[in-house]
This record gives sequence, C-alpha cells and structure tokens, in this order.
Amino acid sequence: MKTIILGAKGMLGGALQEVFPNALALDRAELDLFDTGAVEALFEKEQPELVINAAAYNAVDQCEEDAAQKEIAFRLNSEVPKQLATLCKSMGATFVHYSSDYVFAGDGSQPHAEASKTGPVNVYGESKLAGEQAVQEVGGQYYIIRLSRLFGKEGQSEVSKRSFIDTMLYLVKEVGKTELSIVDDEVGSPTYAPDLAAFTKSLIEEKAESGIYHGANSGECSWFAFANEAFALASLDVKTTPCGSDAYPRAAKRPAYTTLNNSKRLPMRSWQDALADYIT
Ligand SMILES: NC(=O)c1ccc[n+]([C@@H]2O[C@H](COP(=O)([O-])OP(=O)(O)OC[C@H]3O[C@@H](n4cnc5c(N)ncnc54)[C@H](OP(=O)(O)O)[C@@H]3O)[C@@H](O)[C@H]2O)c1
Repeated sequence: MKTIILGAKGMLGGALQEVFPNALALDRAELDLFDTGAVEALFEKEQPELVINAAAYNAVDQCEEDAAQKEIAFRLNSEVPKQLATLCKSMGATFVHYSSDYVFAGDGSQPHAEASKTGPVNVYGESKLAGEQAVQEVGGQYYIIRLSRLFGKEGQSEVSKRSFIDTMLYLVKEVGKTELSIVDDEVGSPTYAPDLAAFTKSLIEEKAESGIYHGANSGECSWFAFANEAFALASLDVKTTPCGSDAYPRAAKRPAYTTLNNSKRLPMRSWQDALADYIT
C-alpha cells in the first residue's frame, strides 16, 4: 500500500516508520504542510493510498497567550488536517490523524469513551478539537486516534518535547536530583509510541470503520505514579513527594482527569507493561 507519513521526525513519526518501513516519510524540510500547493503537488505525484499525519503543533503553553502562536496552532492542528483529509477523500486514500485527551474538560471521574462529551479548557485542546471536527466534516475513510502522555524514543525534530518520563529520568540521572515534587492531581492514560503505531496499523489492516478511536495504553495514573513506576523500573533511588498542579503555575490550564477508555477495539497492554518495555 503506497503510504506517506507526515511529521516523520516527531516522536510518533519515528515509531510509525518502524511499523511502516516502506512508507515515504516526510518532515517539514521535505514538505512544509503550510504550503498548500506543495501538498497538493505531492499527492498528485505520489498518488498515496494511505496518509498518516503525525505532524502537529504541541506547545500547549506557548499558544495559550500568544496570538501568533495560537494562529499557528489552529493552522497546523485544524486547517492542515482538513486539506489532507480532503485530498485523501478525493483520491480514495485512507487518512489517519492524531488527537489528544486535551479535547476533554477533565472535570469528571469516569474514563472517557470515544463519544464522550468534549470541552477543551485550553487553546491547544481547542485547536485539536477543531482538527477532529474538520476531518469528520470532510468524511471519506479516516481514523482520528486520540492519545495522551506520549513516551518512547525521543523525536528527532527540534519541536519534539522531551517526554515526561525522559524528563524525570534526565533530572535524576543527569542533573543529579535526589528529591522531586511531582503533580498528583492530574490523571490520564500514558501512551507508548510503538504501541500506538501498532494500534494504527491494526485499524488499517482490519479495515476498521471510519471514526474516532482511543489509542492509549490501558489503565490510568497521575504524573506522580507514572514517575514512581519509572524510577522503580530504572532502579533509581529518589525521594518523591506528591504535590498539586498549582505548585507549577503554567500559562495553559490542564484538564484534571482525562483517562481514555478504548471502547471500540481490544484493550492495549497496560501502561506499566509498556513502560517496563521502554525502560528495561
Ligand atoms: N506528545 C504528547 O504527549 C501528545 C499528547 C497528546 C496528543 N499528541 C498528538 O500526537 C501526535 C504526535 O505528536 P508528537 O509528540 O510525536 O509530535 P512532535 O514530536 O512534537 O513532532 C511534531 C512534528 O510535526 C512537524 N511539523 C511541525 N510543523 C510542520 C509543518 N509546517 N510542516 C510539516 N511538518 C511540521 C515537525 O517537523 P519539524 O521536525 O520539521 O519541526 C515534527 O516532525 C500529534 O497529533 C500530537 O498532537 C501528542
């Protein structure tokens, strides 16, 4: 199947290339997704049957208060997927796009199913929700896969953020921290990039119905529990203390409870098993 991966140098883009080794994998240097003419020309030339879009604007705090950054977030997270979905539909290709647990308000206490009510509490979440809506409006054969708290091999892109887990390990191993206060009042579903890439492949191979899917590992945890599990697996001796999110003031509000329940497919392995795979 002729496949294009966009956002190839990101964390997820790297994992996708392992699972789709024959895909044409492109990053911004080869194809700037803001150049609508170049995007159209690429589709015309390559005639893809499958397009996987792992490119995104992910700077949650930067786009909250800066109008120019907000505009970029909406362009990359909503207008770009709209064009990609439209081109895919016009040539009968399957389109895969990724979204976030931040489309939810996070004020409940039950895991969110794919059809649960959305209500983002920050600009980044609004831009990701706008992308979901745009792709759904276009229609065609598409998969929108929501994930959360991505971890795995670091992305090669300059914009790739160091994952939370890698940050924790870095603070202890490289910076030499022996004590850490870690947020315990935000709960969600960690997602291991290779597991998400395999989940994506299974949707395509099994020709699953178009729609929204939750592609996180099973289970839930706070940042505090997530970090403690990583330290235990890495046999690192560090004293951790739980704290509230107000201990680390940030521009963008975070939703408190965003656990993703995958109610449409077989459950993925637990985040603990995936983390053990990553760390050991
Ligand atoms: N990371 C998380 O914890 C998390 C949580 C929830 C949802 N998600 C979603 O998961 C997906 C993958 O995220 P990720 O963390 O793997 O992303 P990432 O590491 O931040 O990578 C983003 C990619 O987008 C590319 N990109 C940015 N602007 C572009 C442009 N104008 N044209 C072409 N490419 C451009 C970057 O290319 P350059 O290398 O050239 O800059 C980079 O390869 C995204 O949809 C994200 O919103 C991630």
